Amino acid sequence: MAQLWGGRFVKETDEAVKAFNDSIGFDKRLYRDDIKGSIAHAQMLGEQGIITEEEASKITKELTAILFDVESGALPVTNEYEDIHSFVEANLIERIGDTGKKLHTGRSRNDQVALDMKLYTRRMTREIRDQLLELLDTVLAIMEKNTDTYMPGFTHLQKAQPTTLAHHFGAYFEMFKRDKGRLDDCLKRMNYCPLGSGALAGTTYPLDRDMVSELLGFDAPTLNSMDSVSDRDYLIELMAALSIIMMHLSRFAEELIIWNSNEYRFIEMDDAFSTGSSIMPQKKNPDICELVRGKTGRVYGDLMSLLTTMKGLPLAYNKDMQEDKEPAFDAIDTAKACISLFSAMLSTITFRKEVMRLSAVRGFTNATDAADYLVVKGVPFRDAHGIIGRLVLHCIDENKGIEDMSIRELKEFSPAFDEDVYDAVSLGTCVEKRLTLGAPGQEMMKKVIEIEKKWLKEAVDSRR
Ligand code: ARG
Repeated sequence: MAQLWGGRFVKETDEAVKAFNDSIGFDKRLYRDDIKGSIAHAQMLGEQGIITEEEASKITKELTAILFDVESGALPVTNEYEDIHSFVEANLIERIGDTGKKLHTGRSRNDQVALDMKLYTRRMTREIRDQLLELLDTVLAIMEKNTDTYMPGFTHLQKAQPTTLAHHFGAYFEMFKRDKGRLDDCLKRMNYCPLGSGALAGTTYPLDRDMVSELLGFDAPTLNSMDSVSDRDYLIELMAALSIIMMHLSRFAEELIIWNSNEYRFIEMDDAFSTGSSIMPQKKNPDICELVRGKTGRVYGDLMSLLTTMKGLPLAYNKDMQEDKEPAFDAIDTAKACISLFSAMLSTITFRKEVMRLSAVRGFTNATDAADYLVVKGVPFRDAHGIIGRLVLHCIDENKGIEDMSIRELKEFSPAFDEDVYDAVSLGTCVEKRLTLGAPGQEMMKKVIEIEKKWLKEAVDSRR
């Protein structure tokens, strides 16, 4: 028996219709969640006297055996069944006969699939959250080692002001920290149990929905049975959070691709995380970063796909909702692979600190500081801005930095220049004097790293 219904039909399902309708090909990955949910349901049915305690324990025992057999490979999930729910129930009935037929009492596949998806999604969200914490740890370790690794900071991809590698990576730390918070929010809102909602209008059996909710680790049962079977918000929220994670990863990936280019040479990617060209022997390509950047589009697409599927659906369950699975699974798989590979790749990067430092020295990243120097000497900022602008133009012509100009030359641009200008516009001063909260100066950066460290430790310790 591969099908759970058929009583009111006089004809077999058309082959093409069956293939079109079936979801087993992609929902088989829910086997564990389906079985766990079914065990909780059976225990509750027994507890409530809807089936006998004996029947409940027989069902529970056999479902546990089925889970074991699927996991060991002894019982392969094959495509003859309509979906994972049919597979589990049919196998249960095959093994224990009539008792197995009682499992579905007071339950519909509508609340069953809602439960399975929630259990699966909750598991995956926690896994992704843990992966993010590992990524955050990797980023923080690099920050700690590089509070004095000077480099240019960019706006418009043009050198702007000097900063440090710790500061630059610290920006991503903040992004991933917010991502982790978004996953926590998803987890909080999704943690309500839909089982016991039936097809749409509950049931006349005296189900104990609190018991099932507690057995499955939910905060409480859901409060409206129609909403329970047709809510896919938690998937959309997760995919939105994953899309933002991917957006962050793709920005990070793009920067590493630029830094790895022959022109920048800020970093060297590990051989194990690079690939070669079939024709150009000199090539070592940053494919992992490019793939992460590319896969971002996929995850956005998955989110749009489900949003569009859900748009305009009348209450309650509609088969359209079966279309939630492939995009959700794809987004989850993609994000997981990207976060974990990205993390591993990051920890093997070699930073060419001297190249980064020289890049910060060249390119007038100290121009703002030179203007600020004049301000301290009493020149109004707007005038100082103009003076340094003309000075930079002159330096470009001469192929020199501001710090390479003699004091006599400098005085031609403003009499306010003095010998102490060289210290004021040196790279070290430019960075280390930036001590506002959130700025790259080492003293401040180290304080911020301590705050981030404490946050990360608490986040790791409070996981559940
Ligand atoms: N395979 C279905 C899904 O994924 C399960 C629910 C089926 N319910 C129904 N009434 N046909 O949505």
